[in-house]
Amino acid sequence: MSNKTNQQWGGRFSEPTDAFVARFTASVEFDQRMYLQDIQGSIAHAKMLASAGVLTGQERDDIIRGLGEIRVEIERGEFEWSVELEDVHMNIEAALTKKIGITGKKLHTGRSRNDQVATDIRLYVRDEIDRILAEISRLQQGLLGVAEREADTIMPGFTHLQTAQPVTFGHHLMAWFEMLSRDYERFVDCRKRVNVMPLGAAALAGTTYPIDRAMTCELLNFSAPAGNSLDAVSDRDFAIEFCAAASLLLMHMTRMSEELVLWTSAQFDFIDLPDRFCTGSSIMPQKKNPDVPELVRGKSGRVYGHLMSLLTLMKSQPLAYNKDNQEDKEPLFDAIDTVKGCLRAFADMVPALAAKADSMRAAAMRGFSTATDLADYLVRKGVAFRDAHEIVGKSVAFGIAEKRDLSEMTLAELQQFSDVIGEDVFEVLTLEGSVAARNHIGGTAPDQVRAAVVRGRELLAGRGDAE
Ligand code: ARG
Repeated sequence: MSNKTNQQWGGRFSEPTDAFVARFTASVEFDQRMYLQDIQGSIAHAKMLASAGVLTGQERDDIIRGLGEIRVEIERGEFEWSVELEDVHMNIEAALTKKIGITGKKLHTGRSRNDQVATDIRLYVRDEIDRILAEISRLQQGLLGVAEREADTIMPGFTHLQTAQPVTFGHHLMAWFEMLSRDYERFVDCRKRVNVMPLGAAALAGTTYPIDRAMTCELLNFSAPAGNSLDAVSDRDFAIEFCAAASLLLMHMTRMSEELVLWTSAQFDFIDLPDRFCTGSSIMPQKKNPDVPELVRGKSGRVYGHLMSLLTLMKSQPLAYNKDNQEDKEPLFDAIDTVKGCLRAFADMVPALAAKADSMRAAAMRGFSTATDLADYLVRKGVAFRDAHEIVGKSVAFGIAEKRDLSEMTLAELQQFSDVIGEDVFEVLTLEGSVAARNHIGGTAPDQVRAAVVRGRELLAGRGDAE
């Protein structure tokens, strides 16, 4: 009987792997996306083995050439992936052996798929983190542009989704910028722990060959070799951390999405999203739906789910490698794809966001948003804050009955509630006066928004990942 289904370890076995089990345990369908990292890792390993005298220079060169050809075949879509060969590692190794003969089989000297796969995932996640960082920066760049343009645009600020105090639209967008800066830092921090090299741990205990881990480390741009072989092959903390950082980012993006959805509604009418980011309804001709933010809001669930999957995957696992670990890839890869897709859609969409300044302004006029300013005015005239609160409360009640904002009342009307009110009250009751008065670092005044934009530009310039 052909023992084709377990050719890598056939020696010990008396029958081939059950056909369903072979498919059930295979990972090649989803781990083939790490082909590049697998090849990079193998080339570094071969170079190190040659320099340690385990492989000859000729063998090293044959391996490097063979792997280079395999890479081209994969990228041209000509490579034949085989489920019988289980995973990306054994597919590439078998193809190499077919190409260069016995030397291909020597590549696995001093290495195991356990340190190999851990190395590949780390290389893969590191590359993707770099792309994600660049995309966060691109989104932030877009926010800076809109924030600067809308530094003077006044909208109602909310607490409890009730009109609270006027703010500038630029200030609101710069709040999003802050959230994203924290996300950026979290990915940078996660990358530090991703960037540690398992290679050399072999199956679990290290290897008897005279390997040079410092050399492979340098060739692969890792910051250091992992300090313990058992930990090196079993650790997936970095994948969990990645999903945790991704979950926070997505959570932030759901908050942005929710606001965008609200703001595009006829009831708010604060912004317009370009048609290319929206879809219509097949039955209601008037509809223009904010699909992109809605979908981003929805996609958060997957990423939170993947975080839970990975935590559960690792829970109670004894040292060292267990086959369970193969289940790390699909959640991790889907989290990566989801984050990148959401960021790309947002980074493309945000610069095209059109503020409806008149509508925002009208909304800010409706909810007595300068009531706090009137209270502060009274306090400056010597009224105790609690009394001021009471006076303004009565003024607002009057305004509700009369359907007029505080700024639309006459001086005589306002003086019914307190005789310390003078003509100068109208300076604080205007929306412009209210926002301009909050003129300190972190405040909503237009000048402060412009200063925050300048700081934001400096921050992005210092990152070195912006296009
Ligand atoms: N496909 C496996 C994974 O993703 C590679 C490592 C397999 N190691 C082993 N000892 N079976 O985890």
